Amino acid sequence: MKGLAAHVTPVIPALVVIGFFVWFANWIPQTRWQPPQKLAITDAMSPAELAALGATLVRQRGCMTCHTLEPGAGVKGGGRGPNLADIAARRARGVQGGPGNLAEYLAQSLYEPGAYLVEGYANIMPASTGAPAKLGYEEIVAVVNYLQSLGGRPSVKIGDIARPAGAPAASAPVAAAPGDAKGLFEALACAGCHSLEAGKKVLGPSLDAGTLRQAAAARKMSLEAFLLEAIVDPKAYESKEFPPGVMPQDYGAKLTGAQLRSLVEYLAGRKP
Ligand code: HEC
Ligand code: HEC
Repeated sequence: MKGLAAHVTPVIPALVVIGFFVWFANWIPQTRWQPPQKLAITDAMSPAELAALGATLVRQRGCMTCHTLEPGAGVKGGGRGPNLADIAARRARGVQGGPGNLAEYLAQSLYEPGAYLVEGYANIMPASTGAPAKLGYEEIVAVVNYLQSLGGRPSVKIGDIARPAGAPAASAPVAAAPGDAKGLFEALACAGCHSLEAGKKVLGPSLDAGTLRQAAAARKMSLEAFLLEAIVDPKAYESKEFPPGVMPQDYGAKLTGAQLRSLVEYLAGRKP
């Protein structure tokens, strides 16, 4: 019996080690990048149900990189974009020279953010039908209901507000010219600090598709929302691997919404 035990004992730690690696290997894929889940939206949903989905969308699709929800802080708040708390009360009659009711004004803010600029802000918000938010029509309706619930009551059903003019064309103009995004990448000095080749660190991490997907997964964000945050608000995430504060903090204020979207689409669209 003793002889057998002597043979068996070393096997057990080895099994434990192998077991660990098997567990570890199975665990890794779960942290991989996955496209954001599609929320099921149906025509039968009530405005209140749509508003609840809208709340999730606003948090998942990068809106909070720029906007805040600070009750009582006025339009300005502490964000890069207006404070959305109480927006329904504030915009109950839409805006002068633009849509005269809340729902239409909110839809316009999402489709064409530059059509009416909130005083004191520049045209940096990307249209929500394109990257990074990529809201479909039903999702727009959900977000409008959610925004109505901030200081008011959700009231729109699917079909009540206009569909975006020429739906898929919304992403056409910038996406059609990837060369522009590449030019931007150089003109904005991104290329001076970032390589697009895997494993090549310059002053900042390589922005190859694989590295970006891992980084987005680590932040539990969609690739596009992660890219938007990384460009507009580099302080939001700093790894120990790079010294803090190296990446310019003012791209969010300098880039137009269209440029931002073009950069995000360009970096997200590169194949792993
Ligand atoms: C890159 C920053 C940025 C992102 C991302 C962004 N916004 Fe904005 N947003 C702004 C700025 C700046 C303004 C004010 C200028 C303007 O009117 O376009 C604004 C204006 C608005 C307004 C009008 C506010 C008012 O006081 O009248 C709404 C509503 C809005 N955004 C909703 C959203 C939603 C919903 C998302 C996500 C789908 C989003 N924004 C994403 C920056 C951003
Ligand atoms: C002066 C150098 C510098 C410039 C210019 C610069 N970055 Fe960065 N960037 C960095 C550094 C350093 C980090 C890493 C920050 C950290 O993780 O602590 C970073 C992080 C990032 C990340 C997150 C990547 C990841 O894997 O975590 C993205 C995306 C990014 N930058 C995009 C851009 C884009 C797009 C531009 C141009 C508009 C740009 N950067 C310009 C230095 C720079």
